[in-house]
Amino acid sequence: MDRFISAIILAGGAGERFERDIPKQFMKVAGRMVIEYTLENFQKSRRIDEIIIVNHAYYMDHVLDLIKKNKFDKVKRIVIGGTTRQESSGIGLNACSEKSTHVLIHDAARPFISEKIIEDIISGFSGYDAIDTVIPTADTIVQIDRESGIIRNIPERSALKRGQTPQGFKIEVIKEAHRRALADKINNSPDDCNLVLKYGLAAIGTVAGDEANIKITYPLDIYIADRIFQLRRGYVAVKSRREISAALKKKAAVVFGGSGGIGKSIADILKSAGAKVFAFGREKNILDFAGVAQALSDIYQQEKAVDIVVNTVGKLNLSLIEHHPIEEIKEIIETNLLGSIAVAKAAIPYLKQSQGHLVLFTSSSYTRGREAYTPYSASKAALVNFVQGFAEEVLDYGIKVNAINPERTATPMRFKNFGKEDEALLLKAEAVAIKTVSLFLTATTGQVIDVRKEEEEKIFENYGWPEK
Ligand code: CTP
Ligand code: MG
Repeated sequence: MDRFISAIILAGGAGERFERDIPKQFMKVAGRMVIEYTLENFQKSRRIDEIIIVNHAYYMDHVLDLIKKNKFDKVKRIVIGGTTRQESSGIGLNACSEKSTHVLIHDAARPFISEKIIEDIISGFSGYDAIDTVIPTADTIVQIDRESGIIRNIPERSALKRGQTPQGFKIEVIKEAHRRALADKINNSPDDCNLVLKYGLAAIGTVAGDEANIKITYPLDIYIADRIFQLRRGYVAVKSRREISAALKKKAAVVFGGSGGIGKSIADILKSAGAKVFAFGREKNILDFAGVAQALSDIYQQEKAVDIVVNTVGKLNLSLIEHHPIEEIKEIIETNLLGSIAVAKAAIPYLKQSQGHLVLFTSSSYTRGREAYTPYSASKAALVNFVQGFAEEVLDYGIKVNAINPERTATPMRFKNFGKEDEALLLKAEAVAIKTVSLFLTATTGQVIDVRKEEEEKIFENYGWPEK
């Protein structure tokens, strides 16, 4: 069947419940606007033939810029929205191509729309002319008397679902619904399926939505979104030995903390990929900013580029604060936090030129403090915060900045503090290194990349380690 599928992205709202100066769809999360993520998901779907953006009149420049920057070439028209969602959606329908047979109408404020939902709706068009995206409701829904607040009815939960978007339609069906609504002077329908239902124009099928497909609505939602972005964007596909060396051959890489542990493994993987690797061990004090800057400058003189900068230097001493000498606490915080900031600062001019990568190391303790190594975990938490903010500062330079968060790894620092542990339970430094190096083949930035023991086998398999 020859279908032509249009996606209408509704971005005409002002986001009043969100309570910020800027409409929520233009808020930045992890370096990009919410609507950029939304559009990207439709741009990259093979099933979508064109995208129509229904935009807020004051934010045309934002949208034009991001389309150019991201090369969203499926966007065929940008039209200005109306005063209600229904009006905006009607305007979008009128802007669709004449070839359009079906349409997916989606809220710009739902950036986590998945390929699966898009595909399920489109497959559903074989049986239905209207399809909604729904998820089960965890909370019980009660119907109340609007005036008194008294409960009137508690419908059975299993028959209740929460509606998300996209909603998909045969274009003639939804256009007819909008025509009839206008004739009836209805202009404030909260969604499009509502109108199809009201006029009985088609049976409305459903597909399973996704708990993560949230609509950013209230101020709190941006924090949830940030966390979901982190989990999603923190995903790094581990590459094969051959892909890595094709991409990184002859690149100049600097590794601070490169004489042992994870740093040495990263240096080794980079070397075997054919990169020019400069690994510094203990002799290079990362707190000496001038010294770090000089080292980078020397490498630049020699190689004419610095493409990758890694800092794995960390300090951990187990002790309760009560018994921990203040000088040592200071040293831990300085090494773990200030040291990374110094490396980051010194690397800016070079990575700006190469549009390169900076990688710093955090620890799984960053999300929650742990007794007996609080100065360490507190500085690792601060480091994550630094990576997020710094990544935004240098985004326009094309510099990618990320933090690696390895689970317990078999390193000298670990053995020194925790004694001899069962190595079978610890991550191998090589696995952390391979995933870290795979990151250099992506444009990921501002993220925390987890490396877990449970993915170790897969990492080695994808990369091909050990070499046969
Ligand atoms: N929308 C639109 N035109 C409108 C109103 C809403 O295109 N006149 C879009 C919003 O930009 C959003 C989607 O429809 O992507 C869902 O609407 P909602 O979450 O209600 O967003 P807002 O109306 O912007 O927010 P609020 O209701 O809090 O003001
Ligand atoms: Mg609204």
